[in-house]
Amino acid sequence: MTTSQPTRRIVLSRSAALIGAASTGLMLPELAHAQTGKIRVGLMLPYTGAFAPLGVAIENGVRMAINEQGGKLAGREIEWFKVDDESDPSKGVENASKLVQRDKVDVLIGTVHSGVQMGIHKVARESGVLTLIPNAGVHAATRALCAPNVFRTSFSNSQSTRALGKVMMDKGHKKTVWITWKYAAGDEAFEGFKEGYTAAGGTIVKELGLPFPNVEFQALLTEIASLKPDAVACFFAGPSAAKFMKDYAAAGLKGKIPLYGSGFLTEGVLAAAGPAADGVVTTLHYSDSLDTPRNNKFRLEYAKAFRMQPDVYSVQGYDTGLLLIQGANAVKGDLNAKPALYKAMESAVIDSPRGKWTMSKSHNPVQDMYLRVAEKGENKVLGVAAKALADSGAGCKLS
Ligand code: PHB
Repeated sequence: MTTSQPTRRIVLSRSAALIGAASTGLMLPELAHAQTGKIRVGLMLPYTGAFAPLGVAIENGVRMAINEQGGKLAGREIEWFKVDDESDPSKGVENASKLVQRDKVDVLIGTVHSGVQMGIHKVARESGVLTLIPNAGVHAATRALCAPNVFRTSFSNSQSTRALGKVMMDKGHKKTVWITWKYAAGDEAFEGFKEGYTAAGGTIVKELGLPFPNVEFQALLTEIASLKPDAVACFFAGPSAAKFMKDYAAAGLKGKIPLYGSGFLTEGVLAAAGPAADGVVTTLHYSDSLDTPRNNKFRLEYAKAFRMQPDVYSVQGYDTGLLLIQGANAVKGDLNAKPALYKAMESAVIDSPRGKWTMSKSHNPVQDMYLRVAEKGENKVLGVAAKALADSGAGCKLS
């Protein structure tokens, strides 16, 4: 049992104690802790494995938002707990349970990998612990298995590819090969791409895939060369995405068959990819080159604090912090005031470096998708590919 889901008997005895404490002027230590002790924040992120830099960027973003509040949440101090999830789905439930059962966190922030997220989600639904998803786009979390205590501050997997197909058709690419890692994130990114591209009249000539986190792209690139499509679209992320773009260029495909993707392909890896990334066109809910006072200030302060450049993952971490701050402030730091806390988070407007966004009914961001092109180490904004794009939230029933 966790403090977030007390049994009825304990609730009754607690309220009886409260009346007693109030009438005698005494406060029980446990009750005092509930509102004045440290807030226990759990971070379950990848610190090793294929997505390690993404985990670090997210943690930096969360801490930056909290540091802007003097390191506190609604005036309460924070105790941090960390678990490295290694982007390993087989350890998802066990790792989330460490934070919830052992560390008794008030809020769990995690994670990056969609498969691991499903482990967190099981624990979140069973325990009722407030859970904020700072990346993983797995559909079920904000569709059929949505939950009142789970909020996503990033995207749904199909959201970031939905606008890509039309962009490609407008360029005259009528036949495309799709390539990705075969797991929920890649499969659902394909779903969004396929819907948009086929609706615009495009034909997907072949779907190629390899298991996560493999990076042996060679045989698949040879197959692409022989298929001779008008273009290639893909989902890859993290340092392996840089390898994919380099291998694509080394296989002689760059300059012959234009490469497109969800914008994760070029996030945080432009330096590593070098010229191989130049000209790659993507859609995403953020771009480093967004020239707004909000983004410029964020980028400057992040670079100063962490001695590295922020990317979309840093922004998602930062926005997770902003959402938590808004929720905590609305309930004056009492995260046990669940209905009021959830209501505040559902109606939050997040003034993000990506642009302002709101929460959909199923707890996923409603946000603009930018069209970007990688150029000399920067994701240059070409325009807005989709305005205020919401995920369908299909099958989600809250309230
Ligand atoms: C995911 O597994 O949901 C995932 C991972 C990395 C990304 C995007 C989605 O950049």
